[in-house]
Amino acid sequence: MVLLILPMQLQDIDGVLEVEKGCFPTPWSRNSFISEVRDNDDAYYYVAKLGDKIVGYIGSWFILDEAHITNVAVHPSFRRLGVATQLFNFIFTVGRANGINSITLEVRKSNYGAQRLYRRLGFVVTGMRKGYYQDNNEDALIMWKRLK
Ligand SMILES: CC(C)(COP(=O)(O)OP(=O)(O)OC[C@H]1O[C@@H](n2cnc3c(N)ncnc32)[C@H](O)[C@@H]1OP(=O)(O)O)[C@@H](O)C(=O)NCCC(=O)NCCS
Repeated sequence: MVLLILPMQLQDIDGVLEVEKGCFPTPWSRNSFISEVRDNDDAYYYVAKLGDKIVGYIGSWFILDEAHITNVAVHPSFRRLGVATQLFNFIFTVGRANGINSITLEVRKSNYGAQRLYRRLGFVVTGMRKGYYQDNNEDALIMWKRLK
């Protein structure tokens, strides 16, 4: 089956919440996704679909010439298959087409798997936010990648 990357629609949110619950101890609420998809003109959210099943998603904000990744998650049963890589490559392509010059994200200091993914995609660590994550006061690494 072909993996499709499509703009997130309101009707995708049930499937996105399933992914979200399998990925994070404090998942985003339904309302957070609704307001991003419906109300935020700066938000670019995409889902990865295998047939009717949502297996991952990525969210970002495009502000002037910078993109900020707000979240990325892949269902635990569909990891290490390149889904996140395809979601990022899609964002890079959309970003370049929309004048984005650089792209940033935060990642938990302990999330080595995600850090490895980001380094492979060309992100580099540029700084740290102390106690950024409120659930356990964990530090965030700040990573950037130049797109152009
Ligand atoms: C991080 C996450 C999005 C990666 O998704 P994925 O679709 O499995 O990633 P990919 O298959 O595109 O991975 C590509 C490469 O990144 C690296 N990588 C990805 N996940 C990794 C892990 N858990 N451990 C080590 N390396 C990893 C590997 O180099 C991998 O290539 P390989 O499988 O050939 O070794 C997924 O594990 C996830 O949803 N985790 C929980 C949520 C989360 O942590 N999100 C990030 C918040 S900042």
